[in-house]
Amino acid sequence: MKPRKLLVLTTTVSITIAAGMSVTRTTAGTEQDSQVAVFNDVAGEHGTLDVNGPIDSANPFFQDLGTNGRRCVTCHQPDQAWTITPPRVQARFAASQGNDPLFRNNDGSNCAGDAVVNESAYSLLLTRGLIRIGLDVPDGAEFIIDSVDDPYHCGALLTGASMYRRPLPATNLKFLSAVMWDGRESAANRTIHDDLMNQANDATMGHAQAAQPLTADQRHQIVDFETGLFTSQAFDNGAGDLHNAGASGGPAALAGQPFHTGINDPIGLDPAGVPFTTHVFTIFDAWQTSLTQSDARQSIARGEEVFNSRQFTISGVGGLNGQTFSNGVTVPPAISGTCTVCHDTPNAGTHSVKAPLDIGIAAPSRASYLPVYTLRNLTTGDRIMTTDPGRAMITGKWADIGKFKGPVLRALAARPPYFHNGSAATLEEVIGFYDDRFHIGLTPREKADLLAFLRAT
Ligand code: HEC
Ligand code: HEC
Repeated sequence: MKPRKLLVLTTTVSITIAAGMSVTRTTAGTEQDSQVAVFNDVAGEHGTLDVNGPIDSANPFFQDLGTNGRRCVTCHQPDQAWTITPPRVQARFAASQGNDPLFRNNDGSNCAGDAVVNESAYSLLLTRGLIRIGLDVPDGAEFIIDSVDDPYHCGALLTGASMYRRPLPATNLKFLSAVMWDGRESAANRTIHDDLMNQANDATMGHAQAAQPLTADQRHQIVDFETGLFTSQAFDNGAGDLHNAGASGGPAALAGQPFHTGINDPIGLDPAGVPFTTHVFTIFDAWQTSLTQSDARQSIARGEEVFNSRQFTISGVGGLNGQTFSNGVTVPPAISGTCTVCHDTPNAGTHSVKAPLDIGIAAPSRASYLPVYTLRNLTTGDRIMTTDPGRAMITGKWADIGKFKGPVLRALAARPPYFHNGSAATLEEVIGFYDDRFHIGLTPREKADLLAFLRAT
């Protein structure tokens, strides 16, 4: 029997959002369905539930609050799981001849302040959806930037060194333990809510080049809006409705998923004192035991099991192996673990405590399209070459080079490419990266099942 969809689009209406983009939402079904905006993606459909009601296009998130025409929604688009994807970026470039405010030279072009608007000046944004983040080495850092090998020949580092990063989705923020890839918006002893208030202002001053800061009211409105959003895959082309026959996929179930900082922490940092379980994703458990489900559903369920349970050796990960945590626990240089050792937040996949990790994504060999910085340790004289020092640009610590946070693993199919620098074009490439980096030895069937699961998140 062909599985049926839960979110039947009996009546669809288009609401036009301030940026001129239209959103389709359901008006049929239950109260909750009526607040879910549903969009197509490569694997089927994903949906966003706004727990505050229908998406409010009057919210400052959709307003022009700066001087260059940029709005939050310019880079956080509802139909791309609240980030931007290269095919849609290319379509915007073509339709506007580069006049869409996304293509501004403060941080949209490869080089800061580039005067030309053409495909080659904006190639990183067009091909990988990357935004330029200009950061200076902090005062008192343990290292300096000795040299840069820049394929774009941007010249002197006038606006800081250039990092090129994917916009993180402005949804599912309930599950964050740190804000931004390098956690730079997360201050010690501040709540994530207050981090996000600050982030909204910094984004307006930076990306949108605003002349004056946001008011407290505008910050509140933006944060209330974005923290009310929950996005996940809802319908899979092969498996059908992902919230059916006991499975708990889709945004409404995600909105009800409990979270607190430290939940299910693998080294015992959960303040509730509950021991770690590798069984992090439970969405498709019901399909695991049911032989009456379709092959596509069984594959997704097996993939969830691979993610939760497949053991491999985790070694050489900066911030994990050899690291001593606040409770005195030291992680050995090599451990046998699962994907869920790092992606430990139940049914969300973030790291539930602040834990910037270096899994090697910024290594020059993995991102040949990016500038390579040579960093020199001021005490030892050691050198490291990297495309992005990550957390080290915030703390100035040598040991933090190449560390980034693990993002939310939901609605993945809607928002390629992956990793902070977009180095994996597809989820197949993500799986290939892990198989190679950790010598896992995944079988073709394990890879196919893991892919089916990741696409159904
Ligand atoms: C020019 C594109 C652009 C615009 C405009 C923009 N952002 Fe972002 N946003 C990004 C990028 C790139 C990142 C990741 C940067 C990093 O981590 O270094 C990001 C990260 C975020 C995050 C962090 C999510 C997480 O998981 O840590 C939030 C929240 C966010 N943006 C909200 C907003 C809001 C609110 C606005 C409007 C006030 C806005 N953004 C405007 C590009 C943009
Ligand atoms: C040692 C910790 C660790 C392990 C083990 C781990 N991950 Fe990750 N994962 C991370 C970190 C850190 C990032 C972000 C890295 C970056 O972009 O620099 C990440 C990113 C990802 C992303 C990209 C998400 C996005 O929004 O771009 C996916 C997908 C993913 N991991 C899946 C997996 C799978 C599948 C496994 C098991 C085969 C796994 N991870 C094992 C730490 C880990």
